[in-house]
Amino acid sequence: MQAIVAVSETWGIGREGQLLFHISADLKRFRSLTAGHTVVMGRKTLLSLPGSKGLPNRRNIVLSRDPNYQPPQGVELARSPEEAAALAGPDAFCIGGGEIYRQMLPLCSQVYVTRVLAEAEADTFFPDLDTLPGWRRETEGPVLEENGVRFQYVDYVSEEKRDT
Ligand SMILES: NC(=O)c1ccc[n+]([C@@H]2O[C@H](COP(=O)([O-])OP(=O)(O)OC[C@H]3O[C@@H](n4cnc5c(N)ncnc54)[C@H](OP(=O)(O)O)[C@@H]3O)[C@@H](O)[C@H]2O)c1
Repeated sequence: MQAIVAVSETWGIGREGQLLFHISADLKRFRSLTAGHTVVMGRKTLLSLPGSKGLPNRRNIVLSRDPNYQPPQGVELARSPEEAAALAGPDAFCIGGGEIYRQMLPLCSQVYVTRVLAEAEADTFFPDLDTLPGWRRETEGPVLEENGVRFQYVDYVSEEKRDT
């Protein structure tokens, strides 16, 4: 399992159910990395997607504990991170949000981070991989800029051997 996330300088990822930044180059990269793969997300992140529907051209798995929850058509339901990981397989991407990243990070071997070099008020965060034991920066791209917003792609890898 891999995760993909866009974070602010303090690892903020969202506010009031929405993203903090809209960088079209980053959305394009997200689409190209995840296209044809399985994506795993929490119910709240699914709700935040356009039309609250699964992402096109990908197999979508949503996590919910609510026994009455009915996922939208074409979206599969998992009841725990472990069930989602087993359903999804090792090539899948965890795409958020905060609760799901936190719980699935121990199942991930790699995280594709878009570091936005700006601050924005957030109510949802990703664990700080620069201080979290067991993670190291593997590659760090050049600083890019779109509409005055500077950002950088940084890949982190787990130092633990994982088969998920
Ligand atoms: N910057 C980024 O890259 C990025 C990416 C994705 C999302 N986001 C942002 O993150 C925010 C949403 O994150 P969030 O933490 O509020 O919500 P979330 O992680 O998307 O979803 C939380 C929901 O997942 C379900 N869930 C959580 N743990 C579970 C478990 N162990 N087993 C089964 N189901 C479980 C629960 O659904 P039920 O309530 O139905 O039980 C819970 O309410 C938004 O602001 C969004 O824009 C940012």
